[in-house]
Amino acid sequence: MRGGWSKTFAVIGAVGLLAVSACGNSNDNSTGGDASANKDVTVFTWWADGGEKAGLDGLVSAFATDCKDYKFVNSAVAGGAGSNAKQVLANDLAAKKPPATFQAHAGAELGDYIKNGQVDDVSDLYKEWGLDKAFPQSLLDNLTVDGKIYSVPANVHRANMVWANPAVLKKANIDATKAPASVDAWIADMEKLKAAGVKAPLATSKGFAQEMVLEVVLLAELGPDKFTGLWKGETDAGGADVTAALTKYQKLLSYSNVDRDAIDWPDALGYVNKAQAAYTVMGDWVAAQQLSDKVPDSAYTYWPAPGTAGNFQFLSDSFTLPTGGQDPDGAKCWLKTVGSAEGQKAFNTKKGSIPARSDAVATDYPKYQQSAMADWTANKIVPSCAHGAACSLGQNDSILSAISQFSGKQDVATLQKALATAIKSS
Ligand code: GAL
Repeated sequence: MRGGWSKTFAVIGAVGLLAVSACGNSNDNSTGGDASANKDVTVFTWWADGGEKAGLDGLVSAFATDCKDYKFVNSAVAGGAGSNAKQVLANDLAAKKPPATFQAHAGAELGDYIKNGQVDDVSDLYKEWGLDKAFPQSLLDNLTVDGKIYSVPANVHRANMVWANPAVLKKANIDATKAPASVDAWIADMEKLKAAGVKAPLATSKGFAQEMVLEVVLLAELGPDKFTGLWKGETDAGGADVTAALTKYQKLLSYSNVDRDAIDWPDALGYVNKAQAAYTVMGDWVAAQQLSDKVPDSAYTYWPAPGTAGNFQFLSDSFTLPTGGQDPDGAKCWLKTVGSAEGQKAFNTKKGSIPARSDAVATDYPKYQQSAMADWTANKIVPSCAHGAACSLGQNDSILSAISQFSGKQDVATLQKALATAIKSS
């Protein structure tokens, strides 16, 4: 690697985590050959494996075509939703050793990096590349602070999805073709599944995955306006309706796998695929994972989480131009690819997400994304807290610790208090 910022690599196993981070300037020329004539562009993500890596690879191939003077250097740190990556990134930014570019969620999370002066204004590039016309205004609003734009969105993901195994549902005579109408109806189905011998019908995993279960229950129980208002501090987080939702969340967790705090989301999905569980709540990067694992369409089904149909809970991955980055020109070339029609197609056909650009052709995409594109236009849009659209990094960290504590102690009142405190914080 020449003139590179860092080589950060992490491997996460089923039982533990081994993370090796060797940050700082590195001068090893180990890549050698002709490629070493190109300048490195270190791209920091948490897309290290499976469908996520497949999406990143798509983007990298478009970058190789568009940016021949540069060489992609993978600085991915494994762990769902950036569970390990975000801390590594925070350390590198604090040490003033930013990568050439890093992923950040549109919305409150991006706002943190802007407030901290860690990312540059890219509004001029929007004009230069016509991006001000390419993305929907609602998304541009999520990226804009004081009239300036600080990142380029790569996609739109949907969070409020359930992925289910029809063969398991059949064991309990449950119709796999449609979602239960409400959280209560879903709980009734969980009981049927248990009676049919499925010990842990709901597969989930540590941290953010449980937060996503909590969010879909809140969305179903409060409805979209109160749900969105919750994160803005406009809905009373201490209210009786929130208590009722948290109590249902507790009930749902009682149907989940006992190792939920030890595994990551692909393992939980694995339980569904292996017919050990009926459902998992997860964002639509699952569609990419199934594609990458060659799970046939007939082996799984999906619908919006019970009680949330008609709502599209969104998040958007965007790429930044870090302040003081090593090769801003290389980073800009990456951003140009990210925002281009070809780059978005190469990425999103593999990533399970839909393009952030409005000019994409639906038939270029797999079946799942075609349905998501239709819903993105027809549904009510609500934000995800777990994936930075509604919550800042600090708020999310506090919610994650409350969730992990709740997984063990199961105390609804403590969880509700912690949620309310987190929302009030910045
Ligand atoms: C989200 C990210 C997605 C996906 C997911 C699971 O935060 O926006 O692109 O990577 O985490 O790791």
